[in-house]
Amino acid sequence: MGINILSLGSYVPEQKLVNDDFKKFIDTNDEWIRSRTGITERPMAGWEPNWYMGKQAALQAVERAGIDPADIGLVIVSTATSDFHTPSMASVIQHEIGAVNAAAFDVNAACTGFVYGTDTARRFLETDSSMKYALVVSTEALSRFLDFSDRSSCILFGDSAAAAVIERSDKLYSSHLGSDGSGAAYLCARALNVAPEVKTEPAPGFTDNFTSNPLHKLYQDGKAVYKFAVKILPRSFELAAEKSGITADDIDWFIPHQANVRIIETAARYLNVPMEKFIITLDHFGNTSSASIPLALNEGIEKGLIKRGQKLALIGFGAGLTYGGIILEY
Ligand code: UT7
Repeated sequence: MGINILSLGSYVPEQKLVNDDFKKFIDTNDEWIRSRTGITERPMAGWEPNWYMGKQAALQAVERAGIDPADIGLVIVSTATSDFHTPSMASVIQHEIGAVNAAAFDVNAACTGFVYGTDTARRFLETDSSMKYALVVSTEALSRFLDFSDRSSCILFGDSAAAAVIERSDKLYSSHLGSDGSGAAYLCARALNVAPEVKTEPAPGFTDNFTSNPLHKLYQDGKAVYKFAVKILPRSFELAAEKSGITADDIDWFIPHQANVRIIETAARYLNVPMEKFIITLDHFGNTSSASIPLALNEGIEKGLIKRGQKLALIGFGAGLTYGGIILEY
């Protein structure tokens, strides 16, 4: 069983940082950021809490779908930057949009969150025939967790939200989700309520990134994540595609996680796919973690690039280290 994406919505904060803005507090320049990442500017949440951005994206998606929020049976929010340890962002957004009959919970699969959330929602739709629609909201306020003195990470990320309303359908669908927790320490941020002196290593053998970060800011070993990303991006596509007998040639649009254009170019070369088949939004959004795939999907649709009946490959990777791909017909 597949899904039909009825609609998408997005919310992008008005404030932004252009590359030159970073010169005020770190030793960097526009040329370095552009050439090493492809990013020129990124939205930054100001007064907006993360749940508010998710709510706005959800409202737009629901309005575009033309459905009654009471007919939504499930709200899944993917976020790595929740406003709360509890309640879930999904419960807050469910209430805010009037999805009074929905189950609600969050998934944290970092930048792979939209892929995990959508695939989970599809499984609910398949096994519960009383569920009409599911709403997947990916909302991220990375800026609240960034170490703005770390020039190799703070220039990468942006804040935004995007949401999708989905229903069951017989259209093409296959997926693969995965995780390699041995790389957990390459990209991590401690929970806010953990005192610095409390040891929180998940297992012996992990590096001390978990414990040496008392400010609860995001730590990234850029090179280690880069190495993982260039391999796992094409591999995630292959793992999802082989389940439906699809090859890269069959895909109309690749919508990868938007972390670094060099990662996407390397994956494109490996898959022997022209870059013109990849939706790229990182130049103006930066890396918005789990929001990056639905934001790119939404932009591709709004620009008239992505059309009904086309085959799409959504491919994510990120902290965890998680990865996942979905092949579907739009
Ligand atoms: O969604 C999460 C997934 N995350 C990712 O996919 C991120 C993957 N990693 C990357 O995209 C890249 O590794 C980075 C963009 C983070 C870094 O790019 P890089 O080409 O790997 O740079 P590097 O770490 O090898 O650093 C090269 C040089 C260093 O200087 P030295 O030691 O050669 O003198 C850095 O200190 O560039 C320096 N550098 C900077 N210079 C100017 C690092 N950041 C900056 C900066 N401005 N912002």
